[in-house]
Amino acid sequence: MFHFPRLSVTHKIIAGILLGFVLNVYLIMAISEEQLEKAMMEQVTKQAQSYLLGLSLQMERMPAETTGEQYRQIILAGMAEERHEFLYFSPLEIYLYSKTGKVISHSQEGTHADKPMEGVYGRVIRQGKPQISMEIKGKTNGGSNNHPTIDVIIPVRLASTEYNAGLEAELDMGELLDLIRSNDDSYEKQIFLLSTSTALLVFLLVWGLIHRLILRHIYQFAETMRAFGAGAMEQRIPAPLPKDEVGQLGLAINSMADNIERLMREQEENYLQTLQSLSKALEAKDAYTQSHSARVSKYAVMLGRHMGMPKEKLNVLQKGALMHDLGKIGISDAILNKPAPLTDEEFSIMKTHATYTATIMRPLHRFHEFLEIAAWHHERWDGKGYPDGLQGEQIPLLARIVSIADTWDAMTGDRVYRKGMPKEKALAILAKEWNSGQWDPQLMQLFIRMIEENSTLEK
Ligand SMILES: [Fe+2]
Repeated sequence: MFHFPRLSVTHKIIAGILLGFVLNVYLIMAISEEQLEKAMMEQVTKQAQSYLLGLSLQMERMPAETTGEQYRQIILAGMAEERHEFLYFSPLEIYLYSKTGKVISHSQEGTHADKPMEGVYGRVIRQGKPQISMEIKGKTNGGSNNHPTIDVIIPVRLASTEYNAGLEAELDMGELLDLIRSNDDSYEKQIFLLSTSTALLVFLLVWGLIHRLILRHIYQFAETMRAFGAGAMEQRIPAPLPKDEVGQLGLAINSMADNIERLMREQEENYLQTLQSLSKALEAKDAYTQSHSARVSKYAVMLGRHMGMPKEKLNVLQKGALMHDLGKIGISDAILNKPAPLTDEEFSIMKTHATYTATIMRPLHRFHEFLEIAAWHHERWDGKGYPDGLQGEQIPLLARIVSIADTWDAMTGDRVYRKGMPKEKALAILAKEWNSGQWDPQLMQLFIRMIEENSTLEK
């Protein structure tokens, strides 16, 4: 089955204008050619009539006894006159006939048959009106040339007050046709140039207008909506929008985006509240994790601020760190609150909390960094961490920060089964271990320096 190729709006407009242009040129040329031929034919017919009228006036001034030969002299003189050069025809034969049909005089010598009076010849005399056959009809001349001719018959009053004779002329139109044809060429060229340039101008104007008023806006709308759809919820079609239908569409799109964004934010806020409720539940189940998370959040924000992070980022870091172990709600109390180090099996169960937290965080599209912190705060710089074995800068920055803050609190914070170690001891260990492969070494150095500075301040 045949499928039409997909055309862009621009292509369709160009195709439409080109089609219109071709039709336009064709119509203009056809109409003007016809008009030109018609006008020239009318002109020539009038000329032929007044030419014959001139001859007939001379004949009508002749007395009653004028012979056929004398009329013939008038005809021949008329045919030979120089003014023929200004006429677009040349007389082939002219003759005078009486109202009985007898040929009185003929431009060509010899005998000529009588004219039948029941038809056009008689009617011209009876009605006193000239007869012109407008069609160009072929006449074989010597058997080789096909000369188009027209016939003109006018009524004549020979020594009488009433029409009593007819004068007929057969006129060769070859010159006229030559003229039309030679004129046609230059005329066609002019028409073609004129209509081509007009069509081009119209095309540029129409295309420019359509592009300016519609297409460029549509491209912009599509781009904005694509970005919006890909998650950039703050994307809007920029002002100023035109005050027309296109502008209305833009406003409608922006308003729809506003609503979608509001709904999404509401949904996320709700979900965030749910997570906070979960945190409370976890607190009831595991008091250590809750206070531990609060401290991790505090240290992480300290390090973030020390690094010069912007306020919004610090806010994300603070909340993300608070909830980084939320998945522990799915770990049994026996493991969570075990007052002794975990067995291998228990530890592997404990490890699942990272993935579990990430799963809980997944619907928070706008707060994807919460998920990153939750999923990867147990990854190691050397790639030997869990759950995904990410290494180096594959691990998101916020997760690397939380990893350090988590370590610090695990060392210095009190546990169910042991008291935390003093800061100085923890600092001494980290000063040895900073480049062991567990943490981002640069971040760890920053952290150590920060804790040392704070300790100095505290003293
Ligand atoms: Fe954890």
